[in-house]
Amino acid sequence: MESTPGILYKGYNYFHEQFQKQETDLLKVRLFLKKALVMRGEEAAEIFYDDSRFSREGATPKRFKKTLLGKGGVQGLDGDEHVHRKRMFMQEMNPDSLARLEEFFEAHLQKAISSWEKQPEITFFDEIEEVLFRAACDWVGVPVKEDEVEQRKNELSELIDGAGRVGPGHYKARRARKSSEKWIMKLVRQKRKQKINASGSSILSRFSFHRNLQNKLLDRRIVAVEILNLLRPIVAISRYITFSALALHENPQYRERLRKDTSKLDLYFVQEVRRFYPFFPFVPAKVNKEFEWKGVKFPKGRRVLLDLYATQHHEKIWSNPNVFYAERFSTWNGSAFNFIPQGGGDHVHNHRCAGEWITIKLTRIALNNLVEKMSYHIPEQDLKIELSNIPAIPKSRLKMTNIERTL
Ligand code: HEM
Repeated sequence: MESTPGILYKGYNYFHEQFQKQETDLLKVRLFLKKALVMRGEEAAEIFYDDSRFSREGATPKRFKKTLLGKGGVQGLDGDEHVHRKRMFMQEMNPDSLARLEEFFEAHLQKAISSWEKQPEITFFDEIEEVLFRAACDWVGVPVKEDEVEQRKNELSELIDGAGRVGPGHYKARRARKSSEKWIMKLVRQKRKQKINASGSSILSRFSFHRNLQNKLLDRRIVAVEILNLLRPIVAISRYITFSALALHENPQYRERLRKDTSKLDLYFVQEVRRFYPFFPFVPAKVNKEFEWKGVKFPKGRRVLLDLYATQHHEKIWSNPNVFYAERFSTWNGSAFNFIPQGGGDHVHNHRCAGEWITIKLTRIALNNLVEKMSYHIPEQDLKIELSNIPAIPKSRLKMTNIERTL
């Protein structure tokens, strides 16, 4: 039976429930009318990230390339070409560079808190998106005029929001993709025209002058896709930050404990937010070389999905997976395959998310602000997270009132 309508109807739970019902880690399904396999769990992730078995070229359906990801980016590359392009990203993840991003984020957050104090009510998710957008542009070296902020930020938000939708939401995301790429391509052209100081001091310059394995500059559009591969997911951290505020609201016992925390409770809390709340549902690949797993043949060319959500809620990996319990991470074994909200395996050689440290760090900073530096009230509102909506967010986007700086 074709699975696409089921995913649209049930979202994150569609395969998760089938895995549980059938007590299996492997499902045979149909996606976009073609046979496909869906896997969950630690052993499945270990196999999925063995790149002698899988390839990423052509694995992502076109509708996601036209919205969320763009065409020609690092996500669809294999082998040496992938590692070479991935290094371009990983070089920016050094401690000095990350410290700069953290400073930008903290500075924009402080400015935002001052403005929130003057407002009767804010929508936290939208506000944090803007804080992240401003910090991301400063970090990457993308100039953005004050009167452009809202439009550009909203476009990045639409790329994330519209990717899983059908109809108008999807077409909005397509328009946002075109407009965002055009915006960055113009900046790349300007950088390249300047020529002097070619490698430059900004990430935008370094990406603009990056050379591929054939020692050629990347196509301007591909540079834009890769710059957006930094800006867009930084804005997307707003989801984990909103989920953190929600987790604090729903588990108030943590607030006081986080205040007194001298160990790593805040880290465990953020890890639990990444495990517990739904975000990236699955990642796709195609079989490179035929093999068999659990008695099932994986023929060459077959599309395979690794279900991240189902792995994060796998009852054999996590005891009481539907309970928010940050302390579980104090004894987590650090496996690269059992906790995979942002992919698994190795950051350089596999497709594991390049921005995992950024995500954890910025969410920790935001959590610290929520706990230590501000007081606020969460009024009555609809905070339900619909698991049928990919990507998920509380319905009200988290309204806050009575915001005051406390430190
Ligand atoms: C890849 C999730 C934040 C940059 C990925 C993948 C996932 C993911 C699931 C694909 C893994 C795979 O294909 O095996 C997330 C989530 C984030 C986040 C949930 C939270 C907001 C970030 C940030 C950055 C970033 C902050 C950079 C600033 C990337 C890049 C890739 C990637 C460049 C492609 C890696 C490759 O193909 O080798 N992310 N990510 N992500 N992410 Fe993230």
